[in-house]
This record gives sequence, C-alpha cells and structure tokens, in this order.
Amino acid sequence: MTTRETLAQQLTRARERTLRLVDFDDAELHRQYSPLMSPLVWDLAHIGQQEELWLLRGGNPDRPGMLAPDVDRLYDAFVHSRASRVDLPLLPPTDARAYCATVRSRALDALDSLDADDSGFNFGLVISHENQHDETMLQALNLRAGPPLFDAGSALPAGRAGVAGTSVLIPGGPFVLGVDELTEPHSLDNERPPHTVELPPFAIGRVPVTNAEWREFIDDGGYHQQRWWSEPGWAHRQEAGLTAPEFWGHDGTRTRFGHIETIPADEPVQHVTFFEAEAYAAWAGARLPTEIEWEKACAWDPVAGSRRRFPWGTSEPTEALANLGGDARRPAPVGAYPAGASAYGVEQMLGDVWEWTTSPLRPWPGFTPMVYDRYTEPFFDGDYRILRGGSWAVSADILRPSFRNWDHPIRRQIFSGVRLAWDV
Ligand code: AVJ
Ligand code: FE
Repeated sequence: MTTRETLAQQLTRARERTLRLVDFDDAELHRQYSPLMSPLVWDLAHIGQQEELWLLRGGNPDRPGMLAPDVDRLYDAFVHSRASRVDLPLLPPTDARAYCATVRSRALDALDSLDADDSGFNFGLVISHENQHDETMLQALNLRAGPPLFDAGSALPAGRAGVAGTSVLIPGGPFVLGVDELTEPHSLDNERPPHTVELPPFAIGRVPVTNAEWREFIDDGGYHQQRWWSEPGWAHRQEAGLTAPEFWGHDGTRTRFGHIETIPADEPVQHVTFFEAEAYAAWAGARLPTEIEWEKACAWDPVAGSRRRFPWGTSEPTEALANLGGDARRPAPVGAYPAGASAYGVEQMLGDVWEWTTSPLRPWPGFTPMVYDRYTEPFFDGDYRILRGGSWAVSADILRPSFRNWDHPIRRQIFSGVRLAWDV
C-alpha cells in the first residue's frame, strides 16, 4: 500500500470509530457525565476543528476557516476547561457531524495531492488526535450513569496461570531511548530525538498487577496505612476518601460502561491514580518503573543491539499480539499474549492498561516542538506523570513503544494500571 492509501484508510477507520461513539440522540450528546469530561458533542466538533486547523488552515488559527471565529474558538481546549464546555453554545450534533464531514472530504482532497515520497506527518497527527479523543470519549461514556449503551465488549484470549506477580531481569547497559522521523515518521515531538541512555540493571513485572493482587492490598489495610503512601498521595487519599479502584463496589463487583459484573481476578487492575499505584508498589516491596526503564524493557533488543518497532518485532499488531482498538472495552487477563512479549520476555506492554511511571513529563534532550506546538510543550512544567504502553482503548494505528501519555497523579477515570519494578 502507498503512504496515501494507508493514511486514507487510517483516517476512515478513526472516523468510523468516532461516529460509533456518538451514535446517540442529541440530548445524550449534550450531557455532561462528569466535570472531568467534555460532553461528547464537544469532542466531535473539536476533532473536526483540529483536523481543519492542521490540514486546511496550515496550523494558523488566524487564517479563516469554515466556522465563524467565535464558534471556532469554542473548540480551543486552552480557552475552555472541560468542566465549562457543557455551558457553551456548542454546535448542535447535526451541524457538528456535517462540519466534520465537510472538513474530511477536503482533507481527503489534500491527501490526494500529497507527494508520493511525503510521509504525511500532519495527516498522522490528525489520525492520532482523533483516536486519542475516541479514548477520551470512552472514558466519558464509562462514567455515564444508567443502563448500558453498549454490550459488554468483544471476546479476548484467555490468560495463563503462573505469570501474575513474576518479574523479568533487565540487565544494565546502554540502549537507545526515543525515535526519529526516519524510523517512525509519525512519531510526535515528545518521542524525539533518539539518544543513548545507560541504565543500571532492574527487574520489571512480566505482566501488569491484577485485580486479585490489588484485592490483597485492600484486605491488608493498604488504603488505611499511611506508611505506604507519599505525602501528597496520602493527602489525596484522605481528601478523596479512596478505599478501592474507581468503579469497584463493596461486594466484589465493578461497574463498566453500565454493566455490573464480578471483578475478574486475573485482569490487570484499572482506574487507579498514580498515588495509589505508588502505595501499592511500596506495599508489595517494589516501586514503579521510570518511563526510561519501561521503554527499554519494551523496545530494546539486547542481542541485535537495536530497537524493535514493536515489543514482538516488526509485524503490525494483531488480535493475537495485543488488546488494542477499543472493542473489548476491558483489559485482557494477564498471560493472554505470550506472542506479544518483548525481547526480554515482558508481556502486555502495548494495550490493556496505561501503566503509571514515576517520570514527570519532560522533554528529551534536543526536543523541538512540532507544528502542533501546544500538544506537548505547555505541559512540561505541570503536575503530570507519564503513562506508557496504551490501553485497550488505543488504536493500533497510533501506538508505538515510544508513545508518551501523561496525566495528573490524581486522575483515574483513565484506563490506568500498574506494572511494578525493582532495584536489583
Ligand atoms: C496526550 C492524552 C494527554 O488528552 O490531553 C488531545 C491528547 N491533546 N488533544 C489529552 C490531546 C490535544 C492529550 N494527552
Ligand atoms: Fe484535542
């Protein structure tokens, strides 16, 4: 397939996914499920507005677009907080859909005239942006009260006994952190440039921490013993009254997209804050990995002395290799993807749950902002921690071992989980 064909297919795939996530009546789309999230109709028009900006307006918001300037500005994430978007005079769903469709048809025209040797970075950016908002909409829909709008999700492979709680040794030595545009033309600014980093040896969880393991932490009083928690972590635990992951009931059940179900013992724990992850790790006699350790365990091939494109090698993700794409609507049990293991034998690094790391969001040395210069740079000095690996809700079209996500350490409506690490 040519680059243009691949990009057209990924644009179409993202749009089909978006439209499925907003296939509800107008009242539903205007609802605010939580002050942490936008109404779905905001995400919908914002997806189109950003696509128009990057593909049709040269990234210049002063260049006139299809929307009146005051309407255009409603979709600037820096102007309106998520909590306030429900009160804005947003485009009605019909108008938002029509706007997105018009933008898309002009974007596909622009794609047709892309040079054959051009990697189409801005198209990749738009594909990543739309898919990231699809995950955000799934977070919102998961917070929705009331009877389910979706079924419980597609089938997943079975897990394997004996992998939970085990670890893998990552020997010390140098590796290449980050990527460049030659190997990963659609990598975002914060993933670049590649540079050699020397790490001491460490051990890392073969798989993420499971619900059963988390239950032991709860039953042992972990949420009530300050000694496992950092100072800000304990303050937040007290203030928010945390006693279990979000969406867990008191009776061994959880709520997931409106479905009440028994908590699966061998599924990676989801919906925990960075602070809970840190406390769990301390209780377990471990720590969280740094994002640099995480990337080495995921992408480095110590025999070849080079990076792999994916943990398992060069082939594109499939259903046998990782739980991605959003249709499962939950993580797969640990041990479900032996064929997806990294060179070191670490499993389920891509997909399933985002994994909290100890690292704040910082630029790699030599960082240069991309055309969308407010994607990463404004967040460098904020109160954010890096999450790695992507969740079940991430599209395979946008995920790489170098992909960096971030959020506030108190957030847990995201599909966040934990992988432990140890000094050796
Ligand atoms: C990279 C997931 C933290 O959702 O705030 C979407 C992605 N940036 N639109 C976010 C993003 C602008 C961003 N994260
Ligand atoms: Fe956005």
